[in-house]
Amino acid sequence: MTVKYPIPREAPIDQLLRHASALTTALGHRDEDTLVHSERVSLLAARLGKACGLGTAELGILRIGAALHDVGKIGVPDALLAKPGALDDAEWRTMRQHSEIGEEIVRAIHVAGAAEAAEIVRHHHECWDGSGYPDGLQGSSIPLSARIIAISDSYDAMAVTRPYQRPRRHSEIMRVMQAESGQKFEPDLLEAFFGLFDAHGALSAA
Ligand SMILES: [Fe+2]
Repeated sequence: MTVKYPIPREAPIDQLLRHASALTTALGHRDEDTLVHSERVSLLAARLGKACGLGTAELGILRIGAALHDVGKIGVPDALLAKPGALDDAEWRTMRQHSEIGEEIVRAIHVAGAAEAAEIVRHHHECWDGSGYPDGLQGSSIPLSARIIAISDSYDAMAVTRPYQRPRRHSEIMRVMQAESGQKFEPDLLEAFFGLFDAHGALSAA
C-alpha cells in the first residue's frame, strides 16, 4: 500500500517572504544602515497599518514592502550612499532612481503579492500634495501602504544618527512632521501615527 503524504502548501505570502528575506540579506551586505533602518520602518508601518484596520494579507504585503522600500539602493553608487554632506542636484537625480530600481527588483520576484509590494516600493516617496516622485501622485491616488511607509520612513530617518545629522527627539520630530502635514503627509494618517506613541515618545503597547 502506498502512503500518500500531504504536500504542505505554502501560503502565497510565505513565498514572497522567503524571497524578500534573501533580498534584505543582500541589501544588508551592500548597505547595513539601510537594512537596519528598513527593519524599523517595517515595524512602524505594521503598527500604523494595523491602526488603519488593514487585514492580515494587506499587512503582510505592507511589512514586506516596508522592509524592501529602499532595496533599490543596491543600484546606487557607494559614493552617494555614504556621502557625508548634502547631495547636489545630479546626485539627487541618481539617488531618486532607487524607488524605480526597487520596484523592478521586487516585481521580478514573480510570486503572489510581489506586484503589490513592488507598487508600494515604487511610490514610497510620493507626497500627499503631489510634489513627490517618481510619478507625482497626489492624495488617495497614492497607495495607502506607500503613504504609511512615507510617514514611518521619515520618522525613523530623523530618529537615528545619519552621517549628516544627530538623532532628533520624538517631540522635535513631531513638530517637523506636523509642519509637513497636508504637503508631504496625509493629515489623518499622520494623526493616527502620532497616536501610536505615548507622552514620552515610546511606542504604546500593540
Ligand atoms: Fe527611499
